[in-house]
Amino acid sequence: KMGSFQPHLEKLKKLMHINDVQLALISDRMLQDMSIGLQKSTKSNVRMEMLPSYVDSLPDGSERGAYIGLDLGGTNLRVLLLTLTDSIDGGAKFDATIKSESYKVPNEKLEGTSAELFDFIAANMVDFAIKNGLEEKMLPVGFTFSFPFDQDRIDHAILKQWTKAYNIKDGVGEDVVQMLRDAIARQGSLKFEVVAVCNDTVGTLVSGVSEDQNCQIGLIVGTGTNAAYLEKVSNIESVNGYKDDRFMCVDMEWEYFADTGALNHFVTEFDKQVDATSPMPGEFIFEKMISGMYLGEIVRLILCQLASVGNIFNEKCLGDLGTTGGFDSRYVSDITEEAIAGHGETNVVKSILASVGVKASQGDVHTVQLVCEFVSIRAAHLCAAGISAVARKIKANHPEKNDLVVTAGVDGSVYAGHPTFDTLLEDKTDELCRNHGVKVQFIRAKDGSGKGAALIAAVLTKVSTLVLTTL
Ligand code: BGC
Repeated sequence: KMGSFQPHLEKLKKLMHINDVQLALISDRMLQDMSIGLQKSTKSNVRMEMLPSYVDSLPDGSERGAYIGLDLGGTNLRVLLLTLTDSIDGGAKFDATIKSESYKVPNEKLEGTSAELFDFIAANMVDFAIKNGLEEKMLPVGFTFSFPFDQDRIDHAILKQWTKAYNIKDGVGEDVVQMLRDAIARQGSLKFEVVAVCNDTVGTLVSGVSEDQNCQIGLIVGTGTNAAYLEKVSNIESVNGYKDDRFMCVDMEWEYFADTGALNHFVTEFDKQVDATSPMPGEFIFEKMISGMYLGEIVRLILCQLASVGNIFNEKCLGDLGTTGGFDSRYVSDITEEAIAGHGETNVVKSILASVGVKASQGDVHTVQLVCEFVSIRAAHLCAAGISAVARKIKANHPEKNDLVVTAGVDGSVYAGHPTFDTLLEDKTDELCRNHGVKVQFIRAKDGSGKGAALIAAVLTKVSTLVLTTL
């Protein structure tokens, strides 16, 4: 399939290609930055945060009861009720059922005050409670908050920065758990109690553990991207007071990885444009090459350039394709889907292009497919470089184990919705780990981040009376 292309496509392919040697070097750099980032008192220019989550106990199957998971992601708020009951087959591990609702975060909430955002969250918790007859129930809440924050305990989270498309003017430096509790109190009707907060990667890891005890990595490739993994507490400089050497989930905040210039060699003119028109120029360079908030925009910019030099679309007016944000990342998934179906039918591509106002010829369709492919491959391979570093770090913590296999729980719209991203990620991770005595097994942690927060609440309240609430 990747035969010889027309020269302009050949050039583009080269531009977007990161070869195996380069990927291995990126993996090395990430591994090095992880270790440095864990030692916060050492002055360095590492930007990854490596944040301790205070999640140091994982579900073992013995948890029971009803819990609320609340998940504020890039574009949606999910509220879920997780019920853990004795397993029907009589085993020791719980049976889990989930009821959930998804609420789109309205654009104006991305730009307002933090109190407005939290009022929106609390109002939807009330809606969820009414729909499920939970108004009078006292239930523990685990809160997944998909942003970087500092913690010194599990229910305390000082926001470091709003990321993704959130352009909220206040809230940084404040405790998001308190903001949520205050907003719930303003609603006046709920008896829910917030007991834990976690990043979405940490939630995904924990939910992965409930599927596979061997899960040690949580990965999100959605609107944004980031990973968490289990690290030895003794390696985390900012965490003290642990007697035994147990493990804790560390939220890497790897979206910052390349902000020190680590990927400058691979940043193209298109990436520079994406960055320049983004809400936070100069930051999240790694994320801008990988995640759903940007993939469509990279493709759009490439197509615009091909059009301007006459290589594609026989017209001057490019409709929505000519404006920032005019090409959704979802299209990249749909177009790839059709490309791999490969029946010579190209209706999806044509109708997607028509919907953004461009009339495409058969040749154009092929070009658009290839552009989506190049952009997707680069994203998945960069992600593989990151995950291979995480796997090598875990392996370094278990030198006694030869041929270690670790599981990664993954969630997010790109991972779940893009037809080839998972295979590209898996295959490249395999290659990059091959000589390091470790292998990564990927599992889809559906509803992972919200379910994980509810599970964290379950682990915490295992012996408390809250668990005795019957529904
Ligand atoms: C956020 C991270 C989050 C990731 C995935 C990034 O933009 O800063 O905290 O884990 O997106 O949602």
